[in-house]
Amino acid sequence: MKVWEKRFRKLPDKEIEEFTSSFNEDNFLFPYDIEGSKAHVLMLEKAGYLTSEEKEKLIEGLERVKKEMEEGKFEVKGDEDVHMAVERRLKEIVGDLAEKLHTARSRNDQVVLDEKLFLKDKIPEIIERIEAIQRVILGKAEEYLGVVMAGFTHFRPAQPVLFSHWLMVYFWMLERDKGRFEDVLKRVDEFPGGSLALAGTSLTIDREFMAGKLGFKKVSPNSMDAVSDRDFILEFLTATLQVILHLSRLAEELIIFSSPYFSWIKIPQEYMTGSSIMPQKMNPDVLELIRGRTGRILGYVVSMSMVMKGLPLTYNRDLQEDKIPLWEGYKLTVSILSMMKGIIEGMEVEKGKMEGGAKGYYLMATDIVERLVEKGMAFRSAYRKVGEMVKKLEEEGRDFSSLTQDEWKRCFGFEEEEVKEILSFKDSVERKKVLGGTATSEVKKEIEKGKKILMKK
Ligand code: ARG
Repeated sequence: MKVWEKRFRKLPDKEIEEFTSSFNEDNFLFPYDIEGSKAHVLMLEKAGYLTSEEKEKLIEGLERVKKEMEEGKFEVKGDEDVHMAVERRLKEIVGDLAEKLHTARSRNDQVVLDEKLFLKDKIPEIIERIEAIQRVILGKAEEYLGVVMAGFTHFRPAQPVLFSHWLMVYFWMLERDKGRFEDVLKRVDEFPGGSLALAGTSLTIDREFMAGKLGFKKVSPNSMDAVSDRDFILEFLTATLQVILHLSRLAEELIIFSSPYFSWIKIPQEYMTGSSIMPQKMNPDVLELIRGRTGRILGYVVSMSMVMKGLPLTYNRDLQEDKIPLWEGYKLTVSILSMMKGIIEGMEVEKGKMEGGAKGYYLMATDIVERLVEKGMAFRSAYRKVGEMVKKLEEEGRDFSSLTQDEWKRCFGFEEEEVKEILSFKDSVERKKVLGGTATSEVKKEIEKGKKILMKK
């Protein structure tokens, strides 16, 4: 029985019904639909459209529907969507009184309300999960403070950096990601209820009352905009895309650094799987899937964008297509955040391999140039001089450490003490004392800054 079937001479058959139904996609909104409906009932009583006895009965009925759903006892009966399912079941429980529930409401404002309630609930959860990763990053950065590794540009060895400096990059990425979610939340926090199908209503209702009951800060100023708007979903999805893109970079670096050819990092074994043929293998599948599933998130952003492109005002059924990106995007984001937290928490740095891996790639070349500049040489001539030296050493199959004191003195004018400093990766790192540089003192400062940020919460 469809609520609208009296209007029709012919009704959709099973196949058409299946094509239009969204129940399988939108039932994740169940608790929010009930929450919104309860607030709606309170408002209807206040406005005089329900007696207090009717209000009690409807609230009790809605709670029963919710309980049935939570206990997996809710029976689906060809329902068009979550909203119609709740109303249908409510009618079975409380009888004709349920026919008053949809007073001063349309599914067009109802669905936006449900989605906003969902995001008001879930965005703080995502922010917390991001902070949980930030916390484990801070822990590892402190634990391994002082360990030196080769930093890369173009994925070619470039200059020595602290492992903790490298890892803290991801802390700051995540900090920006959090900001994006906080920002989305501001725009989610606008109550759409009372907009009805598109034009508002002639019934005397109190939108502010309902917004207050549901914890919304603002009430939408235009009923047509309120039912057409899905910006907040697209914004949410782009925020998830950004954080997952960041984590895909981390996944890639961890895959490389944990490869036996590097062995700089050990990732926890429980996040790896074996091979069906090669007995010796332990593969970083979880990290690979994080990297691989990033594309799905972009897919959700693209689908949502295509739903919105050129869509006339106000509600069009196209908008129903927002459910899969919203729900799947949320779930995938949460699972990736959870996996990454576990991996960072359990990872170990193989100090000897990591520091050893920095040797032999002329990583000190820029340090020698800077030393020559300190001594008064123009940067470009110092740069050329060192470049020539690297060319010569490479041809001879040597590196800087093989230069004799005599050669250092002759080519660069360096004394023995200076050479020692120049050849030390630790000294190189400690010299980078510029604000935000890789010296231990600076990295300590950024770790402290990070801790303060998390404490403010
Ligand atoms: N299931 C619909 C959706 O998610 C609910 C709104 C339906 N409104 C309508 N006028 N058919 O978009």
